[in-house]
Amino acid sequence: MCGIIGYVGPQGTDVTSILLDGLGKLEYRGYDSAGIAVLTSTGHLELHRRAGKIANLVATIADGAYPHPGPLGIGHTRWATHGRPNDENAHPHPDCTGLLTVVHNGIIENYAELRQEMEDIGHIFRSETDTEVLAHLIEHTYFGEAQHDLTLAVRMALKRVTGSYAIAVVSGEHPDELVGARLNGPLIVGLGEHEQFLASDIPAILKHTRQIIILDEGEIATLRPDSVSIITLDGTRVERDPILIDWDAEAAEKNGYPHFVLKEIFEQPEALRRSLLGRVSNGHLYLPELAQMQQNGLLDNIQRIVIVACGTSYHTGMIAKYVIDQWARIPVEAITAAEFRYSDPILDSGTLCIAITQSGETADTLVGIRQARERGAPVIAITNVVSSAITRLSDAVLYLQAGPEIGVVATKTFVSSVNVLYMLGLYLGRMRGRIKVDQLQEMLAALERLPNQIQHILDRASGPHDTIEKLAQEFSKVSSIMFIGRGVGFPTALEGALKLKEISYIHAEGFPAGELKHGSIALLDSETPLIGIATSSHVYEKVVSNIQEVRARDARVLVVATEGDEKIRKHADDIFYVPDTLEAFSPLLATIPLQLFAYHVAVARGCNVDQPRNLAKSVTVE
Ligand code: AGP
Repeated sequence: MCGIIGYVGPQGTDVTSILLDGLGKLEYRGYDSAGIAVLTSTGHLELHRRAGKIANLVATIADGAYPHPGPLGIGHTRWATHGRPNDENAHPHPDCTGLLTVVHNGIIENYAELRQEMEDIGHIFRSETDTEVLAHLIEHTYFGEAQHDLTLAVRMALKRVTGSYAIAVVSGEHPDELVGARLNGPLIVGLGEHEQFLASDIPAILKHTRQIIILDEGEIATLRPDSVSIITLDGTRVERDPILIDWDAEAAEKNGYPHFVLKEIFEQPEALRRSLLGRVSNGHLYLPELAQMQQNGLLDNIQRIVIVACGTSYHTGMIAKYVIDQWARIPVEAITAAEFRYSDPILDSGTLCIAITQSGETADTLVGIRQARERGAPVIAITNVVSSAITRLSDAVLYLQAGPEIGVVATKTFVSSVNVLYMLGLYLGRMRGRIKVDQLQEMLAALERLPNQIQHILDRASGPHDTIEKLAQEFSKVSSIMFIGRGVGFPTALEGALKLKEISYIHAEGFPAGELKHGSIALLDSETPLIGIATSSHVYEKVVSNIQEVRARDARVLVVATEGDEKIRKHADDIFYVPDTLEAFSPLLATIPLQLFAYHVAVARGCNVDQPRNLAKSVTVE
């Protein structure tokens, strides 16, 4: 997830300040590198790009590299997906001539083949990014069939692209023209007096205008100082009325949500779609990131798998343990990194280590993985941060593509991590001949349904019949809550408990449901409610009988169940229903109401939801 901004207006405008100020408001979308391109009065596109936070770019420009005032410019703050966070990979990206330049938020799925095609006809690439392909594609059409018509050139180029994009494009030959386009990536137009704006999000332009047009999928906008026109990819003209934004600046950064955590909970369908991009399509599974390991034979004689992680990432590892055991028939162990690193682990080249760390910087996980490498174990990292420390300790990296997660509690990175691990498990199962093609296609189809199913849960939670917020207010006064589950429902219970205690400070513990009668049930009484994960599974009846044991102790029972399950109604006081899916995938749905429940309990208790006490987003110390 990156942030882009564009401006077109009168000659002599201080466009540099407009771009830098706007990027500062978009830094929450990414901060690996930043850059601007400004059209100077001499018709030259002046480029300034720096790795690191926007402050680095501002410092460079303040040191005298200040571009001249101009009528046109674009800017970008990056959350790296392809290519390290350095100056060369920073946007904007120019074409070969330097006359055109582009900024991009999203993932060009077919960038490798397009890059090859452009190189074959003589285009020179200077970066490792997927975005640069767009600059050369547009150059090819602009100086070719489009005959220097920028909008037409962009439209023709985008017809070749698959994946997701929100882009802004400028040409030194058209000082009064700014072109934007979007597909699976947010892009808005800001309407001014003799000036127009493009941006990923409202905060970037709120100080200049409150009149905005939200572009729709597949639309291309051409902005001139006194006009905005919108067409679709096939050239059909679109009329769209502007909307008035009445948020203040802070609300705008959270896209109108009261907290980043709630915003990120609602971003989960989009985050999940991004984790599937380039990996699952038309019943096929691709993990090109593992190709090198495969070629080097590092996956040929794997006898067992050890998953090393902390906190929420450990819970995703536990879910992965259940499913990879099943799909690949390899013994899998999930262990917390702090335990692993002091256990003198028995590892060798036959033990595949999987490191799960959304930040890529968790100290215990890094130390544990260093030990694994010293013992000759191949390592796959699952992380959300390009070029983070864990990536330098791994033989392959599977990125979450979830974009920055500002809230301390992991939400969208949880669902993306689990999803990536599902794909890794299916990949290993296929590689070992344990999963047939039709089974794989059934499971991939179920994976592709998950984003819409999560959206369905979120839509219901935003509707008039929502019970989560009301129940959360009731439960906000209790001092302890227990969570139980079986199979993949057990790590789901652990994750629900962790969310709750992290942000509401209520004592919450997750237990394997079968363990209740071995001690924990002594804690239950009418003052200690229990939340049971009772979605459809091969152990559903066992969970129900555990719930009956709990109710016999007068404890209030809230369950997460599968839509259509009427039987559960006589065993639970309250029910959060979620859509049906394969048992293995049920954690991704069951967790959503638990995240919302934890959020609303925390709000009801007046807690600092985005920055809970005593916690940090990345635990970089032991
Ligand atoms: C999760 O909500 C917490 N923020 C915490 O448990 C976190 O999952 C843990 O610190 C691991 O972080 P990592 O994924 O960045 O390694």
